[in-house]
Amino acid sequence: MRFSDSFLDEIRQRLPISQVVGEHVLWDKRKSQPGRGDFWACCPFHGEKSPSFHADDRRGSYHCFGCGAHGDHFRFLTEKTGMSFPEAVERLAGMAGVPMPARDERAEKREAVRRSLYDVMELATKYFEAALAHNIGARARGYLFERGVSAQAQARFRIGYAPDSSNGLKEHLALNGVTAQEMVDAGLVVVREDSPLPYDRFRNRVMFPITDFRGRVIAFGGRAMSPDVPAKYLNSPETELFHKRQTLYNGQNARQAANDGKTVIVVEGYLDVISAVMAGFEGAVAPLGTAMTEEHAALLWRMSDSPVLCFDGDSAGLRAAERAAGIVLPLLQPGKTVRIATLPEGLDPDDLIKKHGRDAFTDVIDRAVALSDTVWNIETRGVLPETPEARAALEARLRERANSIGDSSVKRHYMQAFDEKLQAFFAPQRGARFEAGRGGKFGQGGAQRGGLSGRGSPRLVVSDTLRNSRLLKPGLTADATPREATIILSLVNHPHLAEIRLEMLAALDFETPTARGILTAILDIISRDHEIGRESLIEALGLRNFGEPLDRMRRLLARQGVWQIGEEIAQADAETGLTHALALHNKKVQLNRELKAAELALGDDPSEETFERLRDIQNQITTVDGTEALIEGFGSLSGRATRSF
Ligand code: UTP
Ligand code: MN
Repeated sequence: MRFSDSFLDEIRQRLPISQVVGEHVLWDKRKSQPGRGDFWACCPFHGEKSPSFHADDRRGSYHCFGCGAHGDHFRFLTEKTGMSFPEAVERLAGMAGVPMPARDERAEKREAVRRSLYDVMELATKYFEAALAHNIGARARGYLFERGVSAQAQARFRIGYAPDSSNGLKEHLALNGVTAQEMVDAGLVVVREDSPLPYDRFRNRVMFPITDFRGRVIAFGGRAMSPDVPAKYLNSPETELFHKRQTLYNGQNARQAANDGKTVIVVEGYLDVISAVMAGFEGAVAPLGTAMTEEHAALLWRMSDSPVLCFDGDSAGLRAAERAAGIVLPLLQPGKTVRIATLPEGLDPDDLIKKHGRDAFTDVIDRAVALSDTVWNIETRGVLPETPEARAALEARLRERANSIGDSSVKRHYMQAFDEKLQAFFAPQRGARFEAGRGGKFGQGGAQRGGLSGRGSPRLVVSDTLRNSRLLKPGLTADATPREATIILSLVNHPHLAEIRLEMLAALDFETPTARGILTAILDIISRDHEIGRESLIEALGLRNFGEPLDRMRRLLARQGVWQIGEEIAQADAETGLTHALALHNKKVQLNRELKAAELALGDDPSEETFERLRDIQNQITTVDGTEALIEGFGSLSGRATRSF
């Protein structure tokens, strides 16, 4: 019996080769890196004392640098145990949990059909390529030129053109001996009840061949050239060869690129992949006419421990990220994760690279955040809950997310990471308030944390900040309070952070006139130019005579060691910093209002009770300032290096 390639591939994909080999060797603990799928042992095929036998889970192969033994799962078993090939297949299928195919003639015939279908797809690819080069391909060539798809890119991705004809491909295939049934099975022609003859599925479209992980064409995506055609992209239907849930555009090249150390990047569309690859991001892949699936995640992890998923910066992008998190969390394994990158709003990677160059895309990828941070951002939605009930609800949601993780050790670490974050935001307030009420000395909660992270930790910065804070040392600056300065400089260094919060920012009530003026100016400038960068924003503020106050704010915060606002700080941290500065600001504004009311009340009714109320509000204000100081040290908990500058 002949086993189908897809069946054998499935076994190779499901079963790490280290597991197969591991039954016959002892891994060298020091040299192996299980997290990377990298294993070393003394060679089981020749005698040796130091390990030169290597198994690689990503490639699904082993290699002995001593004797040259080399092969895949099946080869290993047949060579090592002397089993026959079918015996090895049966054994490994059992280990992998893949059911053995029924030994029937129909299956074997189907396999023969599959093999011939690859040939049919190859014939079609060549036909489309030739049509693109031919006279009839002129408009398609013009379209590709306009979209910036170079001749080199066209050749590399084997882009073609399906002529505007209902039987051009059909006749070409027939001339080459392809039967009508094969054309249907390959998904290249459509049979409709209302028409007597099958006709070409793809007409007047630019054709993108889709290959499997061996580079064989298994499907096509066809793009219409004019906007009035109903389906912008038409993809091949599911066939014997093409299962879209298990296919990634550019998957084969990306796998190779990943082996050479390139980052695996998941984007949305064909042209995003092509632009990215041509700009040097050879690890770019895209799902095809479907959102990311569990199968895609498994494929991606065979290429890379930490592929980057790219999403739009708008609300649809956030939903897509949330959906992807839902798919990925249950599947996480030790060492296997994803990172999430956010594109500037309104630009897909193709647009971004064409408009702003490859460096802009590098920037997006470099700023990708860890999945755990993404989940945190999704669940907090950028708002720090105020009431105990809301905090408990947040905690419950985070717990539920962590609970969806299948692997128990990863689950435990997620729980722990979330707990630490929650603590960082909520717990210190108690300590700070407790101590603040007894004369403003820095609280015990903070001191304990400081003890954990040691000297030079942000916790020390924190106590400095508190010592310098405006309440204890009034009139620190005429331009802005430290919190106002933090908010302003976060926005200046990461202008895109303002976009999603425009309304909230517009409603902000700053105490100091200069800060108010700068904020108004920033919002004005950003609402005119949504894509403005840091440099241009600073320049525009300088033109409005805010250069000097900005510099003073920068110096003020630098003295205090506030680190979130630095331009080199990751987007996620800047965002967290801004969010919490905003939350605290609003809280403070609220408390100041209450303070005024309490002062008035005390005038009317100078009782012990109203006096206590006033004292309580004053303490709460001190607490807010203390919390603000604590939050400045948050970065250490998310594992990033803390900077003071
Ligand atoms: P987009 O609509 O975002 O288009 O679809 P795009 O990739 O930017 O394409 P261009 O730049 O306009 O040419 C993203 C992906 O969704 C699938 C395709 O795989 C496409 O690349 N899609 C989109 C379809 O399958 N059918 C459609 O009608 C549209
Ligand atoms: Mn596009």
